[in-house]
Amino acid sequence: MKPVEIERNVYWVGALDWNVRDFHGYTTNKGTTYNAYLVVDEKIALFDTVKEPFKSDLIQKIGQVVGSRQVDYIIVNHVEPDHSSSLPAIMEIIKPKKILCTPMGKNKLLEHYHREDWPYEEVKHGQMISLGHKTVKFIEARMLHWPDAMFSYLVEDRLLISSDAFGQHWCTSERFDDEVDPSELMKHATKYFANILLLYSPLVKKLIGTITQLGLEINMIAPDHGLIWRGSPSKIVQAYDTWSDQKPKQKALIIYDTMWHSTEKMAYAIGQGLTEEKISVQLLDLKSNHRSDIMTEVLEAGALILGSPTLNNGMLPSMADMLHYMRGLRPQNKIGAAFGSYGWSGEAVSLINQEMEEMKIKIVDPGMKIKHFPTQKDLETCEELGRKIGNALNEKA
Ligand code: FEO
Repeated sequence: MKPVEIERNVYWVGALDWNVRDFHGYTTNKGTTYNAYLVVDEKIALFDTVKEPFKSDLIQKIGQVVGSRQVDYIIVNHVEPDHSSSLPAIMEIIKPKKILCTPMGKNKLLEHYHREDWPYEEVKHGQMISLGHKTVKFIEARMLHWPDAMFSYLVEDRLLISSDAFGQHWCTSERFDDEVDPSELMKHATKYFANILLLYSPLVKKLIGTITQLGLEINMIAPDHGLIWRGSPSKIVQAYDTWSDQKPKQKALIIYDTMWHSTEKMAYAIGQGLTEEKISVQLLDLKSNHRSDIMTEVLEAGALILGSPTLNNGMLPSMADMLHYMRGLRPQNKIGAAFGSYGWSGEAVSLINQEMEEMKIKIVDPGMKIKHFPTQKDLETCEELGRKIGNALNEKA
């Protein structure tokens, strides 16, 4: 794909990765993009680079835009290797006069590439530089989602180059939000937030406040992954504002795994009870649903009901994996309960309860375990548990 002029003299020069399917534990079912942007003015500035295997794409695109002119600055908004691992090769070829980054960005570049000789220049929050007709303002975005992160705002164009924030892991031939199905776009943006930014919700809130305080008018948001928000940049900012509140909906997830279908039967019965209380329910078998897709549903769920039979005095490995992943992302404002079948020792329910307590999920019932196959009465008790959780969720609302 050739460079795309996204604004006058501002070019997308990134790379399309159609086939990546795993992003350290997150399934990228439709690939991703590594977006880099080139601003051509009296000075030329490149904003971020691409993942190393795509360095030739980037080099070719830069050449197509600038010809024999020199790139003056490389602005590193984020050092994670999907945006910087082609930097050593790019540095050799284009030899910019400066690498502009945050102080933490300089540390991270040194820790990754061990090049003391590169021409670093640290920039501060709020600092501006002129490229000629265009001015760049730097906005610190610490811990969104790395300590080095910053945004770059093109003042005259009202264009926010937003690093990882507002991105999506979705590879398309289109470059803009107004060229694709908006509902699919929001699905990818939701998954991205739930799996990458959820634990930083308070900082997302703060950053949106900073953007408002600075009075930045935004015509376009150009993230480092996925589509550029041209048609409706306010839509994604509003969505981040809402998601970072982590306000629960009347929605329950029954997340479970099963050995001989007993825990599964319990899941269905609990679901029946919840439905009777008018709660929207999703049953998510861990064998059929990837942890990162489940996490997307967790974002707006009010209740998490977690089921596992006992295996070797513990929970099934799939549930341990899910809980470990979820704990790292720190979902807030949930209620929960545990359930599962057992044969003789039956530790899974209490172990899941411990995990929920550590995540500050409010446990509304000590949980339910049944021995081997459930009786009709057991299933009726599961339905009752579902109604109890549904009532608790309704009261919370
Ligand atoms: Fe897309 Fe945090 O790198």
